[in-house]
Amino acid sequence: MKNLVFLLTIGWLFYACSGGTQTEQASEATAESAPEKMSEEVTQLMATGNKVYGQYCIACHQTNGQGVPGAFPTLVQTEWVNGDDTRLISVVLNGLQGEITVNGETYNGVMTPHAFLTDEEVAGVLTYVRQSFGNDSEPISIEQVAEVRATVTEEGA
Ligand code: HEC
Repeated sequence: MKNLVFLLTIGWLFYACSGGTQTEQASEATAESAPEKMSEEVTQLMATGNKVYGQYCIACHQTNGQGVPGAFPTLVQTEWVNGDDTRLISVVLNGLQGEITVNGETYNGVMTPHAFLTDEEVAGVLTYVRQSFGNDSEPISIEQVAEVRATVTEEGA
């Protein structure tokens, strides 16, 4: 009988302690600051983007985003990549054709639309491109992609 009481006490203590640790962890989680949450989202987008880039963009824009001179423009420090968010999102969703100038070089090619990618995949690949290959621009959020997609007509998408 004494043994049983002893065991119960140990059991209770163990339960109380692990319960205590859990509450501590929970309060740490809620105390997490907004910027940390933000960077978690960006880490996730970067991982998704890395995969999407390797699957859908690399064939034309190449491993380090340097492109192929005269055929596929570079993604390194371009006014398209670092410039207006809406225009950049639109390039991926709708594709792009006609004469454009990228870093002083003229291109007149055809980029196929990628509207089949999910909002998260588009946000991911653009965040990845904006923060790789020597680029250092603001991430693109899933919400931004959804907004641009909503304004896009069926034609070309
Ligand atoms: C079939 C080849 C091809 C694929 C695949 C492709 N692009 Fe392009 N991309 C092009 C061409 C060609 C242009 C220039 C179009 C023109 O001349 O009007 C371009 C232009 C761009 C531009 C604007 C110009 C610049 O270099 O900054 C961006 C940004 C871009 N592509 C990003 C992407 C991303 C991100 C993906 C993957 C989701 C992708 N592209 C997939 C061929 C491609």
